[in-house]
Amino acid sequence: MNKFFQRDIISVRDLDKQELETIFDAAEKIIKLDPNERQEIARGKTLGYLFFEPSTRTRLSFQAAIALLGGTSLGIADIASSSAKKGESLADTVKIMSIYSDILVLRHTLDGSSRFAAEVSSKPVINAGSGTEEHPTQAIQDLFTIRKEKKKIDGLKIGIVGDLKYGRTVYSLLYALANYDVEVHLTSPEVLKIRPESIYEIKNSLSFTESTNIEEYLDDLDVLYVTRIQKERFPDEEEYLKVKGSYVIGLDLLQKMKDDAIILHPLPRLDEISTDVDKTKQARYFEQAEYGKYTRAALMGLILNENGF
Ligand code: CP
Repeated sequence: MNKFFQRDIISVRDLDKQELETIFDAAEKIIKLDPNERQEIARGKTLGYLFFEPSTRTRLSFQAAIALLGGTSLGIADIASSSAKKGESLADTVKIMSIYSDILVLRHTLDGSSRFAAEVSSKPVINAGSGTEEHPTQAIQDLFTIRKEKKKIDGLKIGIVGDLKYGRTVYSLLYALANYDVEVHLTSPEVLKIRPESIYEIKNSLSFTESTNIEEYLDDLDVLYVTRIQKERFPDEEEYLKVKGSYVIGLDLLQKMKDDAIILHPLPRLDEISTDVDKTKQARYFEQAEYGKYTRAALMGLILNENGF
């Protein structure tokens, strides 16, 4: 039996290096597989999605991924159109969705929401973003992109810039990177530094520095991972306005980077990467979004098939 069969994916901390590499290899296989064979991987299976927060890439890539595997999807993209609006509990909503689906994907504003959903669901649950806590499939997609574009992960120097306090993709990325031999340089405004309590567990397994100056390590990086300042998570808009636009990656900063460095972003972006950068060879964030479809397909294929595919 493959180790992912019928398994919940709540935190990337539950995955070791070998398991991450298994997903990456499965994603490579999905990319290369004959389209007719690919369609057999989830034939007759249904993905149920529940999004209590807006999404473009995560929800659509999950839907594209299950379609790629021959399955179908149904769900709630706008919670205001569901009975949650009438006061139905998350537990009941999840229980109902697990009757209609073979696998569930949940995005919710609250930390712990996906773990709670997994406890009440009769079907495997994948966390598609829980509060400021985690976004594990984003980290899988991010590491796959690095492996694909740089041909390795070990030995790289990786800069992560932006909102390190509220950005859940950052936490999942750091937990995943803690499995590898990498050097990490974190850059954020002082008030958006990484939450020390959230990285306590990986302090001894991940080498990282913290700074407010983006130029400090820029010329030495192999990967620059840019994140959006998460306006929606600030308790006070005044505080957001003080840090809005703190870092903007434009052609001027790009010239200071190594020629073979790559720039990633989980997206959506606002102004933190200038659109001039999009056409440069370092910009790989649209490829990263595409890899999200293949890595999510790989993960669902492994969860749904006892003997893998
Ligand atoms: N990267 C990401 O989670 O994008 P969406 O919010 O559009 O799903």
